[in-house]
Amino acid sequence: MMKYAVEFDKVTVAYEDRIALLDVSFKIPCNKFTCILGPNGAGKTTLLKTVLGLVEPVTGSVKVFGKEVATHKSEIRKLIGYVPQKDVMDLSIPVTVKDVVSMGLYGRYSLMLISRRKIMEKVSKALKIVGLSNLLETPFSHLSGGQQQRVLIARALVKSPRMLILDEPFSGIDVASRDVIIKVLKEFVDKGGTVIMSTHDINPVLDYADYIMLLNKSVITFGPKEEVMNEESLSRLYGLKTRFISLNGRKYVFIGDESA
Ligand SMILES: Nc1ncnc2c1ncn2[C@@H]1O[C@H](COP(=O)(O)OP(=O)(O)OP(=O)(O)O)[C@@H](O)[C@H]1O
Ligand SMILES: [Mg+2]
Repeated sequence: MMKYAVEFDKVTVAYEDRIALLDVSFKIPCNKFTCILGPNGAGKTTLLKTVLGLVEPVTGSVKVFGKEVATHKSEIRKLIGYVPQKDVMDLSIPVTVKDVVSMGLYGRYSLMLISRRKIMEKVSKALKIVGLSNLLETPFSHLSGGQQQRVLIARALVKSPRMLILDEPFSGIDVASRDVIIKVLKEFVDKGGTVIMSTHDINPVLDYADYIMLLNKSVITFGPKEEVMNEESLSRLYGLKTRFISLNGRKYVFIGDESA
């Protein structure tokens, strides 16, 4: 049984002269739900792209399921379902939901070797998981933002990955879709999968994450939720006074300057 899904050892990533990640080291365990929190420009997207081998570090080593990404890129990509931040899809092409989900099989299988019936079986199963079986033939552009995000999660799930990577999946979607997505991700972890997700939304994270990373170019803190979520580390992340407030037995984070 593999212990770590992702291992960064002294990783630095730069775009031209701008450093996006500086000397980042951590080990994300398998079969856990890990959330990455940080302000705009903190390097969240860069970190996730580095895991996928879409961005190459200047220095340091990146391993996924024990293998160096630099030398096992295509093998590793087959094991990861990826939902990018605000996916760029050309909606002028009239693609159906079914088309979008089957795109997730490209690269995983040689499409010549997999029957049309098998593709449809996999697509239907993935859409069922996100609760959108009825929208198979619907044009993707006709869906709400939340429904589109669920379809993109089905696209990531269709190849039966070992790990899901989601980059701010909740931005601009309704609460109902967010709750469906959280449930789908939790079930994925319950069945042995690993989830890594970036988000701005701190409060729901307190309910569902197992591990939390606070990132701002460097790792401010990383570990099990209970150890990491404290006022001191959140204040370091946001540079503002941060307090925890208990309401009806639930913990909430309050960020901001109370004198303002
Ligand atoms: N392709 C690129 N070329 C040049 N600079 C980039 C590129 N992508 C990101 N950067 C810079 O790298 C830094 C980290 O960006 P990144 O997108 O990883 O942050 P983020 O935490 O995902 O931010 P956000 O919350 O806005 O999505 C920023 O300063 C950004 O401007
Ligand atoms: Mg980002």
